[in-house]
Amino acid sequence: MTSDTPSDAFYDILRGVAALTGNRVVADLARLIGQGMPPELWIAFNHKQIASKRWLVDALAEALPRPKGPVWVLGAWYGVLGALLLDDPRLGVDKVVSLDRDPACAEIAERLNRRHVADGRFSAVTADMMQLEFTREPVRPGLVINTSCEHLADVPGWVASLPPDLPVLLQSNDYYRELDHKSCVATLEAFKEQVGLSEIHFSGALPSKNYTRFMLIGRR
Ligand SMILES: C[S@@+](CC[C@H](N)C(=O)[O-])C[C@H]1O[C@@H](n2cnc3c(N)ncnc32)[C@H](O)[C@@H]1O
Repeated sequence: MTSDTPSDAFYDILRGVAALTGNRVVADLARLIGQGMPPELWIAFNHKQIASKRWLVDALAEALPRPKGPVWVLGAWYGVLGALLLDDPRLGVDKVVSLDRDPACAEIAERLNRRHVADGRFSAVTADMMQLEFTREPVRPGLVINTSCEHLADVPGWVASLPPDLPVLLQSNDYYRELDHKSCVATLEAFKEQVGLSEIHFSGALPSKNYTRFMLIGRR
């Protein structure tokens, strides 16, 4: 599939799937694609990406639901995870801030989450997570999610920049072959050591065909 695949066919099919399933995220995706297919959206929505985000949402619902403040998603790409978080009533998420350093992401993330932007529940920010200072934010985050730890050159340095005790959900993987990956870990234990959390409520590994994804939920 390429970005010049006719998007109106996908639009019609996805509207049909949304009508069949009643899934609001699929309806939002259909509307986004109806306006033209953003490059790499097909990767952000592929079955492996969605399986790992479903895993995340289910684990969060068990381990640390109802955050006491906005949820920041860092390295958030096109805001797919934000859409899933806001759609799941088990999580009780009031607001998502979706941050990526790629300036192409914010506009697409806000179009995907248009309903939530209108309700004041979603905003997208273009910034480098290594430069963030959460202590300067007017509202302390209730949870910080980073599913892109493998993309950072200095994961321990980034974790150290977070406020102490902050609830966090972190993912990384052992996909060393990917050129953009700078901090992959070989095992779940290596990931625990890399991030050095003070509390861990959930730890797990999700194997897929080419790599294994690791997830930790706890506090900085
Ligand atoms: C390929 S995507 C998502 C990968 C992740 N494993 C996932 O499944 O969600 C990685 C994203 O992280 C973003 N990113 C990488 N380093 C970043 C940084 N320092 N600050 C903000 N965003 C960053 C990239 O722009 C990209 O959109």
